[in-house]
Amino acid sequence: MAKETGGRVAGKKAFITGGAQGLGAAAARMLAREGAKVALADLNLEGAEKVAAEINAERGEGTAFAYALDVRDEAQWIYALEMADAAMGGISVLLNNAGISIGGNIEQLAFEDWKKVMSVNVDSVFLGAKHALKYLKENQPGSIINISSIAGLIAGHNTPVYNASKAGVWLLSKNIALHCAKQGYNIRSNSIHPTFIDTPILDRLRDMLGKEVAETKLARQVPLGHIGEPDDIANAVLYLASDESKFMTGAELKLDGGISAM
Ligand SMILES: NC(=O)c1ccc[n+]([C@@H]2O[C@H](COP(=O)([O-])OP(=O)(O)OC[C@H]3O[C@@H](n4cnc5c(N)ncnc54)[C@H](O)[C@@H]3O)[C@@H](O)[C@H]2O)c1
Repeated sequence: MAKETGGRVAGKKAFITGGAQGLGAAAARMLAREGAKVALADLNLEGAEKVAAEINAERGEGTAFAYALDVRDEAQWIYALEMADAAMGGISVLLNNAGISIGGNIEQLAFEDWKKVMSVNVDSVFLGAKHALKYLKENQPGSIINISSIAGLIAGHNTPVYNASKAGVWLLSKNIALHCAKQGYNIRSNSIHPTFIDTPILDRLRDMLGKEVAETKLARQVPLGHIGEPDDIANAVLYLASDESKFMTGAELKLDGGISAM
């Protein structure tokens, strides 16, 4: 049985995409520690099941659940949300976290890669919000949290589709916020904008340059002088999932070590 303890998100039920590793897994662990039930949805079902099992070992069976989901697929969204709603007894938080990056400047990037990244990063937020709202409305107050990136606010020279997709997530979050407010729903929508965080998403660069060189290169771009930890972002997710942020909607939280202040 799930432990009936207090916590900053006690009684919340969170559906998390990309929960098998990285920021999604860290957010799931943190939300569960603070009293929420969590549904981890990922292409990598085995990974999601492993994280869910670890959470259940710590917090008690029935705290975490895992589902297969390709966030580009509408039918899979509908099915996974229905399963998670039944398992958790509702859904009150949607964390749209799954995302990918493919580099290559505007002359190099293949159209297929453009479409793939747009689909994983942006279709996912559209489909997730569209279909989760049914459940969030039944479980108000609700919160939609979309993981954009500092790259959604500041461009680079060789990341056209990552920039465009994360900028899309940024404004789509605001659109959802205004829609919910206009409808009179007590459901908020906000975006989070991290800079480099120590997750497997950085592995390609680490493999290319070696861990130390890669991390030093990234850290040099951050005024605070180092890359972030997954819990730096999980703490922001916790705040936005909790009622502590009840007056915050249509906003963006930049967790970028100072990059955007320059
Ligand atoms: N780590 C960073 O430096 C950083 C910085 C800014 C923004 N972000 C964003 O944070 C989010 C999480 O990143 P991360 O660092 O944890 O990445 P990660 O690569 O470690 O994890 C991403 C997870 O998403 C899953 N996923 C990928 N495609 C999917 C799909 N089509 N359907 C379902 N699941 C899918 C993967 O299986 C994986 O478990 C992403 O949206 C990313 O763009 C990360």
